Amino acid sequence: MTRLAEATGLAPLPFDPYRSADPAELAERIRAVKAEMGDSLQILGHHYQQDEVIEFADLRGDSYKLSQMAAESQSCRWIVFCGVHFMAETADILTRPEVDVILPDMAAGCSMADMADLDSVEAAWSDLGELIDTEEITPVTYINSTADLKAFCGRHGGIVCTSSNARAVLEWAFARKPRVLFFPDQHLGRNTARKMGIPLERMPLWDPRLPLGGNTETALNDSKVLLWKGHCSVHQMFKPAHIAQFRQQYPGIKVLVHPECMMSVVDAADLVGSTEYILKTIAEAPSGSQWAVGTELHLVNRLASENPDKLVKFLSPMVCMCATMYRIDVPHLAWSLENLAQGTPVNIVKVPEDTAHWGRVALQRMLDVK
Ligand code: 13P
Ligand code: SF4
Repeated sequence: MTRLAEATGLAPLPFDPYRSADPAELAERIRAVKAEMGDSLQILGHHYQQDEVIEFADLRGDSYKLSQMAAESQSCRWIVFCGVHFMAETADILTRPEVDVILPDMAAGCSMADMADLDSVEAAWSDLGELIDTEEITPVTYINSTADLKAFCGRHGGIVCTSSNARAVLEWAFARKPRVLFFPDQHLGRNTARKMGIPLERMPLWDPRLPLGGNTETALNDSKVLLWKGHCSVHQMFKPAHIAQFRQQYPGIKVLVHPECMMSVVDAADLVGSTEYILKTIAEAPSGSQWAVGTELHLVNRLASENPDKLVKFLSPMVCMCATMYRIDVPHLAWSLENLAQGTPVNIVKVPEDTAHWGRVALQRMLDVK
């Protein structure tokens, strides 16, 4: 039972009845809770959320914008985060202490974030320390990571980045130390560092399952950016051949992809950027323009329907959707909101204080980078 449930004497509402409830009726009930709770409740939604859920978000954004919104939120007592677990943790770290953050389904994780855990990163740090002075390395974690990895960065002079500020963050890091350990997304790290002119041979890949990450001592000594062997299984599905097919079928079409795509896709694309950048670019594009977009399916479908004067196509012939984002659905949203309204909040995401403190240090460094 939660703290509030004990106070009211009520047990939390069970989820099962929500599964079979009429979605239109649930939508009505969600609107009723929002009206009842007013400013004390803020619903944040990531761009990958399905239409039926995102329509209830008070604020939408990419990971950077959502963390800024959490840091700046003034009046709410509760944030219901329609996104994935690392986003809810980040919001918990950045909000005022009296704010609680709720994730409607705790199983909404991120497979990329799961590819780096604290034990493996600490083991890598210690192995690297046998060869290189770790005082010379800045750990940089992509925001798609657990709170304890953000805290690791905070403790070791490191920083967080998102897909919208990775270059500025790497510049920040190189202004301080000569090397970076970048986790968990090898593609964002490689794509960003290469655009800064760092040669590929100075970016060895660190496989946490292999001794020395699968590298020679020479490769590690010559390294500038050590890339963790992690990736996004959704963005990994886009291939250069898909770009070639679209260009053949729609001459003049522009290809716009997320930087989590592999290097060969990013190199072949016309434009690269975060989900917010993708959204703005299409919204501001001239009527009649044609776009093939390499990012999560729900966002691309929404862009197509919100921009009927433009041709917006999904870049892959396969269905590439983020299955974990999709776990946040109308039944889970209604269930978490009605529990909140009843005084029996469920699924509160709470980062332990010491982790939150050091995670905040790394996140604040990021928010301070201009
Ligand atoms: P953005 O920061 O661009 O919204 O990306 C988040 C994400 O998880 C992409 O897969
Ligand atoms: Fe994680 Fe990929 Fe889903 Fe983004 S799209 S939340 S990186 S699994």
